Amino acid sequence: MQGKREKRDLLDVDQLELGEVESLLESAEAFEEVLRRPIKKVPALRGKTVVNLFYEPSTRTRFSFELAAKSLSADVLNFSASASSVEKGESLKDTGFTVQAMGADAVVIRHPVAGAPYLLAEWLDIPVINAGDGMHAHPTQALLDVYVMRKRLGKLEGRRVTFVGDILHSRVARSGIKVCTMLGMKVAVAAPPTFLPAWLPHGVEVFQRLDDALEDSHVIYLLRIQRERQQQGYLPSLEEYVSSFQMNEERLRKARPDVLVMHPGPMNRGVEITPGVAESPQSVVDYQVTCGVAVRMAVLFLLLRGAGGA
Ligand code: CP
Repeated sequence: MQGKREKRDLLDVDQLELGEVESLLESAEAFEEVLRRPIKKVPALRGKTVVNLFYEPSTRTRFSFELAAKSLSADVLNFSASASSVEKGESLKDTGFTVQAMGADAVVIRHPVAGAPYLLAEWLDIPVINAGDGMHAHPTQALLDVYVMRKRLGKLEGRRVTFVGDILHSRVARSGIKVCTMLGMKVAVAAPPTFLPAWLPHGVEVFQRLDDALEDSHVIYLLRIQRERQQQGYLPSLEEYVSSFQMNEERLRKARPDVLVMHPGPMNRGVEITPGVAESPQSVVDYQVTCGVAVRMAVLFLLLRGAGGA
């Protein structure tokens, strides 16, 4: 978290101390219990307003932040760039000042440009939460992913997670690799060489075939393959990608029996994952979505009611 004028932002996981990650995960456990109650609401953020500023499409993250804020009794405003004055040329700065002037208490932003949430955080006096910026970061996805891993595996230290596929363009992998490393996991990637980024941290093991990573991985984390990458020359053919990297039933049989198969969504069924694996007992894709609400409740609560946020 970034401390600035007595407000805190969540722009990426590397702004969090290990203790803060642990504390967010513990607080998410309490909120997960709230979400299992018949009335899934607590008054923690009553009187607060959260604005979702989405400049890019989203299903899971936008709904999840909206549900999280509403479950904490906050009011929520949803902004979609295509239905706003952005269409008339309004800048990000002016849109940010406008929602702040209306009394918003926090802004959640998704933007196609890497770094846009950092600018907004500089300009505004209210907390800014990054809901995904370009190819850069997706901190709440990373936090909900380690939350799910911890719930299912218990201790994470020493467990191996393998991120598979388009690491280069993935903000999910970038934030995920950071937080998994922070929690003491062994991190590996399995990807074609064209999908390996220059930013891959020292110590991350690289596999050029998914088959070589299966046996020792406690988590296989699949990333979405954007079909347009083939036209851009990253992949000779989707068929070739599928043959080396798709998580299919045969590969699932070669993996540990207790492996977790994860995917941030949206999935390309039949490309990076088969429908059978997506719906297998090892898949926790739906549980990731469920936990996303509890983890985002924990983030909103910390930023708006945590130290200095009351
Ligand atoms: N995982 C994720 O960010 O999904 P959305 O694009 O639907 O929000």
